[in-house]
Parts: sequence; structure tokens; C-alpha cells
Amino acid sequence: MKTFQTNGPFADNYKFLIGSIIPRPIAVISTRNIDGSNNLAPFSFFTAISAQPMIVAFCPMIRTSTGEFKDTVRNILREKEFVVNFCTENNYEKINLASTELLYGQDEFIFAGLTPLDSNIVKAKRVKESPIHFECEFRDMLCYGKTPGSGSIITGEVKLVHIEESIMQDGKIITDLFKAVGRGAGNDWFKTDSRFEMERLTKAQIQK
Ligand SMILES: Cc1cc2nc3c(=O)[nH]c(=O)nc-3n(C[C@H](O)[C@H](O)[C@H](O)COP(=O)(O)O)c2cc1C
Repeated sequence: MKTFQTNGPFADNYKFLIGSIIPRPIAVISTRNIDGSNNLAPFSFFTAISAQPMIVAFCPMIRTSTGEFKDTVRNILREKEFVVNFCTENNYEKINLASTELLYGQDEFIFAGLTPLDSNIVKAKRVKESPIHFECEFRDMLCYGKTPGSGSIITGEVKLVHIEESIMQDGKIITDLFKAVGRGAGNDWFKTDSRFEMERLTKAQIQK
């Protein structure tokens, strides 16, 4: 087994992270630019935090090319809101395009060919091609550094959830219908169509 220190270049640690923590779900975050145009970007450092209140988190890093916050972060700190959209087999190529580093104010919905939908309570738009949308109010931001590759946690309280009826049965989201797509190392992506089921053991079964 090889052992590595983590005090070297951030790019080495980044490779350890994206190779080890897989598959990663992808939050496609939409925000509003200062001129009212739309911003959209995928983030695979993304997770659920709390069910009530309903809180999710994603982790933008300082942009390598400029040493600045990404546009998503600038917008969330100013507008205090965002929408989480989801990456699926039906939209992943467009979502990948939305990760392009455009100039601030250039609309990634237009660039990627995605359709903006009005939200109910936040100003940021939803992505029509995503079957689930979370309308979020910004809650907290924790920053771990100011240099390229340094990350932050941004949490949002999900105030409204929109789910396409076609991916639901008996009030639940069905994995095979959702067709979520995740991220791996390098240019690897994952489909979620190779799943298996296993009963969770009850306390009584574990003690036997
Ligand atoms: C699938 C995918 C996942 C990504 N995940 C992250 C991530 O977790 N954190 C991050 O800082 N950048 C991530 N990126 C890169 C951002 O999407 C990219 O820097 C984007 O230009 C940021 O846009 P913005 O400046 O409009 O916020 C990811 C890119 C792709 C394609």
C-alpha cells in the first residue's frame, strides 16, 4: 500500500478525493446574476444534511484560473437563494456544457440549451429538463481557504420540492425512473441502473 502526505499541491489531493469518493451525486445549481440573467453550474461535492429542517450542502472551490469565488458563490452571497436541479440520463450532456467557465453574466441556460422555468418562491430559475427541483434559501457558508483548490460548504434550506409525477410511485421517487447520473474520477460519470436491494437489519436481528 502506498502512503501519501496531503501537504503537497492541491491537484494531488483533488485526485485522491475524486477517485475515492464515488459515485458522487451532482447538484446543478441555478442562481441569478446581478443583471437578472441566469447562472447555472454543476457541483458533485454535494450531499443531504438534514430532513427537518430540510438542508442540503454543496462545495464550490476557489476557481483555479482566477483565484476568485465562482459565479454561483457570488450570486448566492448576494441573493441569499438558489435552486438545486438534478443530472439525469436525459440532460447530462447539457449539464456538462453548463460547467463551462463563461464570463460573469453570460447565461449557461442559453449556452447549454436548457430551458429556464420560473420558481415559486426564489428568483433563480429551475431547469425544465431536470425532473426534481429544490427551491433553497441560503443558510451558511464555511470557507476553508482563499487559494485555488480551497473549498467551502454552502448550505441551503429547501423550502419547496418539485418532482415530476412520471418518476414517482406511491409518493416515492423511483430510482429506475429518475435515472440520476453521478460523477467519478477524471472524466468518469455513472448511471444508476446497476443497483441491488438489501433489507436493513433490525436491532433484534443484529443481536441474535
Ligand atoms: C459534473 C461536474 C461536477 C462538478 N463539481 C464541482 C464541485 O463539486 N465543486 C466545484 O468547485 N466545481 C465543480 N465543477 C466545476 C464547476 O461546474 C465549474 O467551475 C463552473 O464553471 C462553475 O460555474 P460558475 O462560475 O457559474 O459558478 C464540476 C463540473 C462538472 C462537469
